[in-house]
Amino acid sequence: MLKRYSSTVRRLGVVGVMLVGLLFVGGCDLFKVTKLYELGVVVSVSPIASEVGQQVLSQGGNAFDAAVAVGFALAVTYPQAGNLGGGGFAVVCDGNSDLVVTLDFREMAPEGATEGMYLDENGKADDSLSTRGALAVGVPGTVAGLHALWENYGTMPWSDLVNIAGRLADTGFVVDQFLADAFDGHRSSLVEFEETRAVFSPDGVFPGVGDRFAQPDLARSLYQIAAEGPAAFYSGSIADSLVACMEKHGGLISHTDLESYRPAWRPPLKFTFDSLTIYSMLPPSSGGLMLGQILKLLEPYDFSRYTPDAPEYIHLFCEASRLAYADRSKHLGDPAFYDVPMSLLDSAYLEGRRDLISLKEANSSVEILPGNPLPYESDQTTHYSICDSAGNMVSITTTLNAAFGSGLVVAGAGFLLNNEMDDFSIKPGHPNRYGLIGSEANRIEPGKRMLSSMTPTLVFNNDRPFLILGSPGGSKIITIVAQAIINFTRFGLSLEETVEQPRFHHQWLPDKIYLEEQSFSQATIQRLQAYGHQIKERSRYGDLEMILIAPTGLMSGASDSRYGGAAVGCNSPTIN
Ligand code: DON
Repeated sequence: MLKRYSSTVRRLGVVGVMLVGLLFVGGCDLFKVTKLYELGVVVSVSPIASEVGQQVLSQGGNAFDAAVAVGFALAVTYPQAGNLGGGGFAVVCDGNSDLVVTLDFREMAPEGATEGMYLDENGKADDSLSTRGALAVGVPGTVAGLHALWENYGTMPWSDLVNIAGRLADTGFVVDQFLADAFDGHRSSLVEFEETRAVFSPDGVFPGVGDRFAQPDLARSLYQIAAEGPAAFYSGSIADSLVACMEKHGGLISHTDLESYRPAWRPPLKFTFDSLTIYSMLPPSSGGLMLGQILKLLEPYDFSRYTPDAPEYIHLFCEASRLAYADRSKHLGDPAFYDVPMSLLDSAYLEGRRDLISLKEANSSVEILPGNPLPYESDQTTHYSICDSAGNMVSITTTLNAAFGSGLVVAGAGFLLNNEMDDFSIKPGHPNRYGLIGSEANRIEPGKRMLSSMTPTLVFNNDRPFLILGSPGGSKIITIVAQAIINFTRFGLSLEETVEQPRFHHQWLPDKIYLEEQSFSQATIQRLQAYGHQIKERSRYGDLEMILIAPTGLMSGASDSRYGGAAVGCNSPTIN
């Protein structure tokens, strides 16, 4: 594999020197194509949020300071998924110790939640309750999570980092095509609740391209969080507003739920693929274990005769992901409530599963069941990756679940609430909004965190920092990240090619390969059908935000063009 890596390294070695000569003409630069930077790189879906991170780095902040500022900025500039009212996961590497840890700031079910809360009197699951309005909301984790990150690793004053977002909300920012399209695509859901309408369409008109969009209530909340820390959100006046919103709309979150919310530091999931060491999330995200299963199942196969869009490779990848997602449906849930079998990644177990893969024909998901590992054992989310010259690395995926979450804004506090409760298995075998089914392991229980697919990831090569990546995409996040790692390291695509490469997805059920539309040839589609696969084309999806760190320490980033993000880097102003 590391044919590609060594050529990348050689290229970076030479080009790096050239670009250092060319680019170190002072300060930072905004770019869309690969350039190399010495002080740090920020990639996110929002060019404004990326610039915020760049400012923090250029003022001497580290990657963690930048991550806090970018996280809050996204809550302003990317309301589809950036949030105060949601949650997420971070994988971080401390450049001082090279220690990798993860931070779980996933939402949790309120104390009043019950297993049958989304079932009607006939026991039928009602998706509208788990996806819209107050009952869909899990106890938010983002403010506590970003504070925990800052408390452990930050160097700049908390208030300075949060106030940047406060000012953005206060003075407003200019709406771009992507945000205008998002408003347009979610018109009806953004006017369902008066509180939400008051923020996004007060006079019945949504902000259009070029309009300045200010959010005064959100600004006030951010200034309060800047001044008082997370207490403002979990026990102060924002908590009062949130609980009042729950009472008005029939939600469950109480003051006790908010006060008892804690983010969790967890060890990372660590596994190898080829010569890479990969760190990702353990449950309550399924991301790491599923990424590990897919890559380990595929590891022995030689892809050197294939291209990333070859039907032979797509078939193999989808057979591996079919097996992984079948296991997800049964074995994955919040480890505080369910014993997740870590033997899902054991080589003996995976060998048995790999035996089910045929090179010649597709399996049927009716016949593929979850395995029995030994007991030990337009949708939106958003990802951002940041690194600095001290070797600090941050990979964060955060979400409200659906675009604009539950559609409900907290009156007076100006932020949207998540609809993350739908990520629980609201009834065994009933698919959630991503078509994922679950069972016992992911049933609703008070205080439990709903299973996620978010896969923020750090990759090391020969113990050296190498890649930082992640993406939104609901159930598809895992296959997006797996394909990115394979495309970059096995197929030798450049960073930009990797984020742009057409995607395909199989998640066991529904038993179909989803292909990004107009991206694969008819010949490829026919060949896949000949294996026995059902094919469904769909709109482009995912938003890879990826950083490469060269052995020289120079850094480069690429932001997926699908959602108009930006990769921004910093160089020392002193070197010319
Ligand atoms: O945690 C999860 O897996 C989902 N709530 C993520 C949702 C998502 O990625 C939607 N974005 N495209």
